[in-house]
Amino acid sequence: MTTIGGLLGGKRIAICAGSGGVGKTTVAAALAMGMAAEGARVAVVTIDPARRLATALGVEELGNEPRLVESERFAAHGVELRGELWAMMLDSKRTFDALIERLAPDDATRDEILANRIYQQLSNAVAGSQEFTAIAKLYELTQEGDYDLIVLDTPPSRNALDFLDAPGRLTGFFQGRAIRVFLNPAGLSGRLLGRGTGMMFSVLQRVTGVDLLEDLSVFFRSLGGLIEGFTERARRVGALLSDPATTFLIVTSPRHDPVEEAIHFHRKLAEAGLPFGGLVVNRVHTAEHDGALPASLAGDLGEALAARVATAARELSALADHDAAEVQRLAAALGRPPTVVIPELDDDVHDVEGLARIRAHLLDAELAPAT
Ligand SMILES: Nc1ncnc2c1ncn2[C@@H]1O[C@H](COP(=O)(O)OP(=O)(O)OP(=O)(O)O)[C@@H](O)[C@H]1O
Ligand SMILES: [Mg+2]
Repeated sequence: MTTIGGLLGGKRIAICAGSGGVGKTTVAAALAMGMAAEGARVAVVTIDPARRLATALGVEELGNEPRLVESERFAAHGVELRGELWAMMLDSKRTFDALIERLAPDDATRDEILANRIYQQLSNAVAGSQEFTAIAKLYELTQEGDYDLIVLDTPPSRNALDFLDAPGRLTGFFQGRAIRVFLNPAGLSGRLLGRGTGMMFSVLQRVTGVDLLEDLSVFFRSLGGLIEGFTERARRVGALLSDPATTFLIVTSPRHDPVEEAIHFHRKLAEAGLPFGGLVVNRVHTAEHDGALPASLAGDLGEALAARVATAARELSALADHDAAEVQRLAAALGRPPTVVIPELDDDVHDVEGLARIRAHLLDAELAPAT
């Protein structure tokens, strides 16, 4: 028998993945806080447009680097941080710019790219793919930060699999045919300066005053110097994700669709040779009893109110049965992995107190392969 703390012993990266809205950000933050309480130096990268947790942790005004969370925030809620908790919110655009800066062979190329209008448009689009920049940031933190553990939240994709596919898609772009055509000067003149196109560009330039062709060719020329570095980095990031010191935790709720997606995601992890650590089933309803209320209730509450209470209790009990069955179905489909179940709390988790409650469920529980 072990706990999540035991499961993460010796791990350097924990990635909380799962479908939309199941509690990835909440679990990532509570996990990081719990591991910091146990003495580790932990960084958590949250990706939360709603900024609820950033506000709770007091890091809403963050730049794109982890910041030390004041431990007094937790002491008031009975959590003593023996280690350190560093938190940041992913800034996708800045992460992508930083990546280009690092990969540029020299300062001139770097400035040329960052100032280029095509790059600015493209980078906004790429930065929109938080799946990609989250992993880029993760890699950067393993290289530059001295953390015992990095907990990575994953973006609110509708589909958890996007996260696994994103780096490959971008590498594909860099290695693909389109960019090779541009990089090959013959291709460039052949295709872009073909008479029709060349004329279009020059008309555009006269009308708009923007030399798009110049922008395009500068962009692809300077980007050409980055391809090798980019491919090499993608390779190292891939190695990092499949490292035995990395672990994926699948977070889900006990609803039908997220459970199906969790099963699918688990299969994809295995196919990709990525290390799966365990299952976190969040927002599980529990009922204290089977829904049968004492007969004296009617006397105490009056008939009408007692009937409503009885209905609510029956509904909760049915919900709890349903959730328990889904947990079983999921655990069985995944080969009974280490599983932790977190109950549905009465309130949203939006402050340190809520996080402390999730932490207790997450870290104090013995992990049982659900039976
Ligand atoms: N155990 C719980 N009990 C009650 N509310 C919870 C619980 N866990 C999470 N929540 C609430 O559910 C909502 C979604 O949680 P969270 O933002 O962590 O999910 P997510 O998977 O990160 O979502 P997204 O995919 O949008 O990023 C939040 O309002 C959060 O406060
Ligand atoms: Mg989230």
